[in-house]
Amino acid sequence: MSDTDPNSPSPTAPETDSRDARPDRRDFLLRLGIGAGVVAVGAQGAASLRALVPNVSYDAPTTVKLGAAREFPDGLKFLPDQRLYVFREGNTYHAISAVCTHLGCTVRAEALSQPETREVGGSALRLTHRFACPCHGSTYSGDGVNSSGPAPRPLAWYRLSVAPDDGQLVVDLADEVDRDFRLTLA
Ligand code: FES
Repeated sequence: MSDTDPNSPSPTAPETDSRDARPDRRDFLLRLGIGAGVVAVGAQGAASLRALVPNVSYDAPTTVKLGAAREFPDGLKFLPDQRLYVFREGNTYHAISAVCTHLGCTVRAEALSQPETREVGGSALRLTHRFACPCHGSTYSGDGVNSSGPAPRPLAWYRLSVAPDDGQLVVDLADEVDRDFRLTLA
């Protein structure tokens, strides 16, 4: 009898046990499943985060055009929409908030019987008014410093500039400035 029986498996031929292949396939399918899960969770998370960000911002703009600078009267002008007092003295301008620092009522300007000149932030400021709050009686001097009542701090001063396109006075209600701020036009 020959050693080379064609029906007997070759001793050198690799045996392919189908049970050995199964763990690889299971492994592959498991990894595929985990990968798909990670992608799905990631996509869901990204969609949730995106939903928190609005497509359009409806915040009110903080920069507002107030009108032609040259047309502001000398002295004080109240702008109710911005709750703002704009002062002009010749070619210099400054703006003081009309929002009381106690609980936010609108302060009223009261004319002084005699204008005062006061050193404010290193420069002279002509005070023609003081401010009074109708809600709880706080008062402020003409440069916005709180002088009596529950108001905890001075009225805010805001940055003024001139629009380059049409020469209008512009206020930035998000940009508080020191009390020595003056916009001086040429
Ligand atoms: S809100 Fe002005 S004093 Fe209270």
